[in-house]
Amino acid sequence: MKDILEELEARRAAAREGGGERRIAAQHGKGKLTARERIELLLDEGSFEEFDMFVRHRCTEFGMEADRPAGDGVVTGWGTINGRMVYVFSQDFTVFGGSLSETHAQKICKIMDMAMQNGAPVIGLNDSGGARIQEGVASLAGYAEVFQRNIMASGVVPQISVIMGPCAGGAVYSPAMTDFIFMVRDSSYMFVTGPDVVKTVTNEIVTAEELGGAKTHTAKSSVADGAFADDVEAMMEVRRLVDFLPASNREKPPVRPFFDDPARVEMSLDTLIPDNPNQPYDMKELILKLADEGDFYEIQEDFAKNIITGFIRLEGSTVGVVANQPMVLAGCLDIDSSRKAARFVRFCDAFEIPILTLVDVPGFLPGTGQEYGGVIKHGAKLLFAYGEATVPKVTVITRKAYGGAYDVMASKHLRGDFNYAWPTAEIAVMGAKGATEILYRSELGDKEKIARRTKDYEDRFANPFVAAERGFIDEVIMPHSTRRRVARAFASLRGKSLQNPWKKHDNIPL
Ligand code: HXC
Repeated sequence: MKDILEELEARRAAAREGGGERRIAAQHGKGKLTARERIELLLDEGSFEEFDMFVRHRCTEFGMEADRPAGDGVVTGWGTINGRMVYVFSQDFTVFGGSLSETHAQKICKIMDMAMQNGAPVIGLNDSGGARIQEGVASLAGYAEVFQRNIMASGVVPQISVIMGPCAGGAVYSPAMTDFIFMVRDSSYMFVTGPDVVKTVTNEIVTAEELGGAKTHTAKSSVADGAFADDVEAMMEVRRLVDFLPASNREKPPVRPFFDDPARVEMSLDTLIPDNPNQPYDMKELILKLADEGDFYEIQEDFAKNIITGFIRLEGSTVGVVANQPMVLAGCLDIDSSRKAARFVRFCDAFEIPILTLVDVPGFLPGTGQEYGGVIKHGAKLLFAYGEATVPKVTVITRKAYGGAYDVMASKHLRGDFNYAWPTAEIAVMGAKGATEILYRSELGDKEKIARRTKDYEDRFANPFVAAERGFIDEVIMPHSTRRRVARAFASLRGKSLQNPWKKHDNIPL
């Protein structure tokens, strides 16, 4: 009996070695942790239960039968984050560069199936050279099996990908179908084809960092939702995100203990809006002042900064926030901000996370760049996402809500449940200057007359009361009491039940 136990220990120890000491040292030399070290940081201490530690590949090409490390380049299993169950796979770059073989894929598929069945998030720690070249089509088949599960799991359990090394080919398409992608700065890359292939095909000379580093994907392509300084920070921040999310679409988001008075008054908000309507202010200040303990988890912080998306808690419950940011492009909607916010709204709706919308939007960004880029279709994504969402929706208009953008930003007409406005709100078809220049074109030569007309328009329309008279705004509220009003609104909506008509699925303008 003792021998058998010892053999098990010996086999376990060998599996834990992955690709061996030399490769582990190389991994550490690059500032990266190993697959197992990452899992240890991600999960609650001692909570990890591993599956398939002894799985080996079955490839017999290229002399592979002589090299069959236990585990086959991926560590899989489940554990807890602050006591809540998650499933995890962590690719081991020290074993064939973390490349995906048939059996490696089967290990990932097993935990994905279990996650769906048991209703818990899947967290993928990706560090992989893509398809295992020696396995050929068997590896491609393995990828497709993973992809199919990503698709089936979408909207059922949250899926989070962390890119923690060079990820090429198939290794980027699975993350692309998950809900959130995070990268580690300076040590992770994502591309469909690497710099060498790019040079051969297009003659472009580009570094891996420029082509697919964290900056490229968080600020330019928007493929990634955030980037962290190193592996440790990445694992800590994923833990923080998981705390905001429900385990599956069968459960409500978690309610955390809170120590912040929901009725907290913020007198400083009464002076947040500058006297000059064209002067910007920082919408993040409002978000931080509304949130429990000022805790805000921002998503896509470096992309389309004219709109802010992320999670806060109110009375301990998760709320998704979408807010125009007057500091960037005056907070207007454009292609990028519409896409960014639409995806966020759809995530919230899929997982029953109520949405708070903070509005200060002068309209859609005009121009050929926007029109040629399809702003009509991209803007419609956000309109569609808000309109189909059945979760509780509370909207606060702080200042401008002009034109189509007024409609889009969770207006009453898109089934907003509570539509509040600050007294500083200006809800109209367009700004006073633009309106008078169209209505009184013949008087444009007379500056005094136009100024009078503009003032008259401002007095009549640049306020929340015209909309409030029609019931499009439920109440004009004091800025300092916004946290209390919004928290009470969401509390009153906890029992909300709203269904869309049956359909196979909708046809959102993609
Ligand atoms: C098998 C691989 C591998 C792969 C790396 N290795 N990628 N083994 N299949 N795809 C092995 C290497 O042989 C090496 O083994 C070890 O992993 C580390 O690789 P290095 O090249 O030494 O590391 P590094 O210099 O850091 O470069 C990492 C890399 C590079 C950028 C990932 O290895 C690379 O370009 N790999 C190939 C990427 C690729 O083209 N993948 C196929 C994509 S096609 P030893 O024994 O020396 O430690 C694809 C199709 C799916 O994925 C499409 C589905 C839609």
